[in-house]
Amino acid sequence: MAGLRKIFVCATPGEGRCGAKGGGELFERFREEVEGLGLPASAVLRNGCSRRHEEGPVVFVFPDDVWYTHVSPADVPEIVERHLARQASAKD
Ligand code: FES
Repeated sequence: MAGLRKIFVCATPGEGRCGAKGGGELFERFREEVEGLGLPASAVLRNGCSRRHEEGPVVFVFPDDVWYTHVSPADVPEIVERHLARQASAKD
């Protein structure tokens, strides 16, 4: 089951895009968080531009079909807990 849910973080570079708004650091922070729970780093992937960067950085969770906008590193634990923590506990 641990392979099902994915968190996609947009870190696309370019002026006004998510990468310029901290998307790269956010991606790294998500990876640290999931690895801390014993989940594979591949639970967090980079997302291509979805034309929502005015609200960026944006994060999408599959297959939950949930979008997060204006995401900051401080939001990471809560988002991971909400969507992936069950997978971490299901592994045990
Ligand atoms: S660069 Fe992230 S949505 Fe466009």
